[in-house]
Formats: sequence, C-alpha cells, structure tokens
Amino acid sequence: MFIESFKVESRNVKYTENEIHSVYDYETTEVVHEKTINGSYQWIVKPKTVKYDFKTDIRVPKLGVMLVGWGGNNGSTLTAGVIANKEGISWATKDKVQQANYFGSLTQASSIRVGSFNGEEIYAPFKSLLPMVNPDDVVFGGWDISDMNLADAMARARVLDIDLQKQLRPYMENIVPLPGIYDPDFIAANQGSRANHVIKGTKKEQVDHIIKDMREFKEKNQVDKVVVLWTANTERYSNVVVGMNDTMENLMESVDRDEAEISPSTLYAIACVLEGIPFINGSPQNTFVPGLIDMAIRNNVLIGGDDFKSGQTKMKSVLVDFLVGAGIKPTSIVSYNHLGNNDGMNLSAPQTFRSKEISKSNVVDDMVASNGILFEPGEHPDHVVVIKYVPYVADSKRAMDEYTSEIFMGGKNTIVMHNTCEDSLLAAPIILDLVLLAELSTRIQFKSEGEGKFHSFHPVATILSYLTKAPLVPPGTPVVNALSKQRAMLENILRACVGLAPENNMIMEFK
Ligand code: NAI
Repeated sequence: MFIESFKVESRNVKYTENEIHSVYDYETTEVVHEKTINGSYQWIVKPKTVKYDFKTDIRVPKLGVMLVGWGGNNGSTLTAGVIANKEGISWATKDKVQQANYFGSLTQASSIRVGSFNGEEIYAPFKSLLPMVNPDDVVFGGWDISDMNLADAMARARVLDIDLQKQLRPYMENIVPLPGIYDPDFIAANQGSRANHVIKGTKKEQVDHIIKDMREFKEKNQVDKVVVLWTANTERYSNVVVGMNDTMENLMESVDRDEAEISPSTLYAIACVLEGIPFINGSPQNTFVPGLIDMAIRNNVLIGGDDFKSGQTKMKSVLVDFLVGAGIKPTSIVSYNHLGNNDGMNLSAPQTFRSKEISKSNVVDDMVASNGILFEPGEHPDHVVVIKYVPYVADSKRAMDEYTSEIFMGGKNTIVMHNTCEDSLLAAPIILDLVLLAELSTRIQFKSEGEGKFHSFHPVATILSYLTKAPLVPPGTPVVNALSKQRAMLENILRACVGLAPENNMIMEFK
C-alpha cells in the first residue's frame, strides 16, 4: 500500500513549530586488534551504541538554483522539465499523450518503506521523510559562455519531443543565461566558437562579478537561499602545486595575482564559498583543489561532487556490488561510450577525456577491497574506459559494457550490456536531487553524546554521494561507491532525523 505522508509518534521525537527533534541510538561497532593471554593477536568486534540528537529546521525556504552551463543540454533540459511539471504540460508522442513527471529523481519519484499495516507493507514517497523544497517552486538562474536563449538551447540539445518543445518555447525564449567565466586553456579547443558571452577581467574581477551576479539574483527573485551547481563543460585537471592552490591563503593569493592555473570552475566555487552558498560540481574535474576544500571547511560552506552518476557508472556500482557480494570475481570490466552531444565533443580532447577517465575508474575500488577471499591485497580487475564522439547519436548515448568474471571451479562468466538513453534525461533529475538534498542537509544539525553543541554536517557533503561518480569526501574518510550502500546511508540519515531506525529488511514480524 502507498501512503502520501506520515508522522512519527515516539517519545524520542518532538515536533515543534519550526523543528523536528529526534534522540537517536546509533548502533555501530568498534573493531580492535588485541593481544590474547598466549601472546597472539585476535580481532575483537564490540557492538556499541552512540546517542545522537538530530534537529531539523522544517521551514522550507524559497530556493534559487544557479547553474553554471545553464544553456547546455542538462541545464536546458532540467529547466524545461521543471517548467513542464509546474505548468502541468502534456504532449503527444507517437505512442501516447505524455504527462510531465520527475521520473529518475530519487527525491521525487522513489519511495521508502515505513512499516506494515494489517500484514501489508506500507510505502511512502522518499520526499515525505522530511520537508523538502518542491522542485516546481525552484527559481532557476545561471551562467553560460554561449548567449543562446534557453528555448534555442533546448532545440540545440535535441533531447525533448518536438511537441513539448513547441509548448515550452514561450516560457523559455526570453531566458538568457548570464555571461560566464571562460578560459580556453581548460576546455577543448572545439568549444571556442560557442564562447561569445564571457566575463572579462582578471580572475579576482571575475570572482567579484560572480558574487555580484548571485547577490542580484537573490535580490531580484526574493529567494531565501541559493545553491550553485556546475553542469558546464568538463575541464581538464588543474595542477595542484604547493604554494599555489594547496591552502586557502595560497589559493586566494593566486587569484589576486591572476595565476593561470586556477580554473573557471574553481573561481565560481571560490565566489560561492565567500558568499556562504553551497556549490556542487557535476563534472569530473578537480574543481575542489586542496585550497578550495580548506576554504570550504574553514568557512563551513557545503561543497559536493564530483561528476553526476547517471548511467554506465550507476550500473557499474550496482553490478560489481552484486558480483562481489555473490562471491563472484570480476576480472575485466571494459566500458565503451558513444555520444554525439556537445559534452561528447568536448571530451574528444585528451585532457578533458582524462578527467572523465579518472572519475570513472575508481568506482569499483571499495567493492573489490571488501572481499579478501576473491582478491589479494592490491589486486584489481582490469578496468578500461573508452569514450568516442559520434555526432549522429546526439544526446542519445550508447554505453556498452563487458564484465568478465571468474565463477565456480575456474569457470568464466561474461555479461555484456548495451544501454541507449538520452544522457540529459538521466542527468536532469539527478541535478534536482543534488540541489534539493544539499538544501535540506543545510537545515539538519546534530550532536553526539559528549558533544556540547549542535553542528551541521561536515562541509564536504558525503550525504550526496549516491548522486556522484567520484564522491568527494573529507580527508581520511572512506569512499563508498556501491549504490545500495549510498542510498541506504542517505535514507537512514533522513530516517534518523525523524527517529526511525535504519531499514534493516529483517521483517521479523513475519518470521
Ligand atoms: P553541454 O556541453 O551541453 O553543456 C555545457 C554548457 O556549459 C554549454 O552550454 C557551455 O557553453 C557551457 N560552459 C562551458 N564552460 C562554461 C563556463 N566556464 N561557464 C559557464 N558556462 C560554461 O554538456 P551537458 O551534456 O549539459 O553536460 C554538462 C556536464 O555534465 C559535462 O561536463 C558532463 O561531462 C557532465 N555530466 C553529464 C552527465 C549526463 O548524463 N548528461 C553525466 C555526468 C556528468
């Protein structure tokens, strides 16, 4: 059975006018390596319970979202999709009359189990866990180095059905992104002809310009909060150099002296941190150089990334988790991509491709490391990623994957997958989730027993890792790529905020 909403009744949970308070027992384990009386060592696992207090502000703000690369395929598709949902637009396809929806969004289109009623499982929308911004109410803005209006950008993207595009055109033709920061050294040379709408000046002046843009956007639209998300072209990696971008001070000095190696994406991120605005990176490059991470931590401003986990990698983080979890040993993983959109054209340059290759390559590490029966320490499956630009397929990306594994008694198992899908239709709902969850997470505070004061999550937002290919984590924190674990982490933290135990799937009631 499906219910739309629910309220938790528990002595550990208190709903006030503006907040939900929950007192929570976090069940975990402590592992120690102890010397026994005969001198040998053994591993001891000690269950422990840590008390946490969660406090969630339930006042949902009016949210502004500014996209860097607003006129791109993702930016225009997301904007179009939200307008279509808000306006209740339907359109004729060759199959049926299609209604606007938010399929593919974890927050808007997935559900959670809340319990059982008369022997029947009860599910509710994911978004009913805690009050979240309704995507229909988000005010969009942003920048692009191309001055194309969003209606033309939507047509250029060739993603949405033509009947839908016709209906959306009047809503989008007067929207033109703000000029962006362009540095040809960081993206492919083939993007040069698009860059007709750029912010002039030194790096310091460019940062100041972005700050001014964000203040004006906030003022003009009367939004309470802003989140900025990079969905612009993939940049090449920036060199990380001691003295240049390794600390907050060095990074800011580098901006002041117009240091060439500070990328446009890092400049936008600096502007956001200075303004206390969350910044999310949807592309693979290392926007978050150590100096930027240092800056975000010291200013306590949320940063999250990197690289949307939309198709092939999402599948990989499910399939390899399944294989390793089933005791099967993946030995070779080869992934090919053909795509013909502007992202594909930009990735046809070796430096930008390298960013994507790095981002896609570490995704199975945690799963491989989790099984010492299958893999020797340091052993790793062969893992190769190929991306080719094929203009004809446009946004309809082809992803072909071959997984070869060793099974029982030396047998081999090869699984081949072929996936065809508009890339931007996968990415747009993920962008939505990222900004909505980033906003929500800034309203949650907590403290563990022994901690005197409530505090927010660590500024490096690991809570968003379900949505990213290469989750950015605070220094010294384990990276989790397995999709089911990432989803469970997110869901269980939100459940904790309303005093619900983690979903353990034991269903003892029926055993
Ligand atoms: P796109 O090339 O259609 O859009 C990027 C837009 O950014 C363009 O309109 C371009 O003019 C603009 N731009 C470039 N540099 C800029 C700057 N410095 N400031 C402002 N605007 C700038 O690409 P698409 O397909 O929308 O993808 C966007 C990004 O998302 C790419 O980096 C891609 O790798 C990443 N991504 C996309 C996924 C997907 O499924 N679509 C999945 C994972 C990542």
